[in-house]
Amino acid sequence: MPLQDGKSGLYAQLAAQLSSLLAGERDLIANAANFSSLIFHSLPDLNWAGFYFVKDDELVLGPFQGRPACVRIEIGKGVCGTAAANRATTMVPNVHEFPGHIACDSASNSEIVIPLMKGERLIGVLDLDSPVTARFNEEDAAGLETLVRVLLSSVR
Ligand code: SME
Repeated sequence: MPLQDGKSGLYAQLAAQLSSLLAGERDLIANAANFSSLIFHSLPDLNWAGFYFVKDDELVLGPFQGRPACVRIEIGKGVCGTAAANRATTMVPNVHEFPGHIACDSASNSEIVIPLMKGERLIGVLDLDSPVTARFNEEDAAGLETLVRVLLSSVR
């Protein structure tokens, strides 16, 4: 494989690592747990990485790495609930300027949330928090969307 620079190279490596890590296992919780550990320990400048899953029409905390977090988030509330309501990747360069941001860890300054879709159905979100303002850009969005596809295809 040719040497790749920058974030897209890192995400390509992570996609390959994730595919081997999840190969042969179809349990969503187990694979989401290993996913959160892999990205938390591989991506720089994160203070939280993990999942919320849709249960009874709200988001409920799933596997994660980082400090303890709020357990239930209403769809439409906070960054996670907004991404879930819009079914769209949502990047917030400065969470302190996001109306309704839910502060779980005071270290967080920027955030990215990627919805998990099974066909037309929203099953949850992937949430990453960083202490660095404007930590996430379009390369992160594209790279994380690829990783989420690897996760979702592993549990099919
Ligand atoms: N900040 C999120 C809540 C989840 S924690 O960051 C882990 C939000 O506003 O939805």
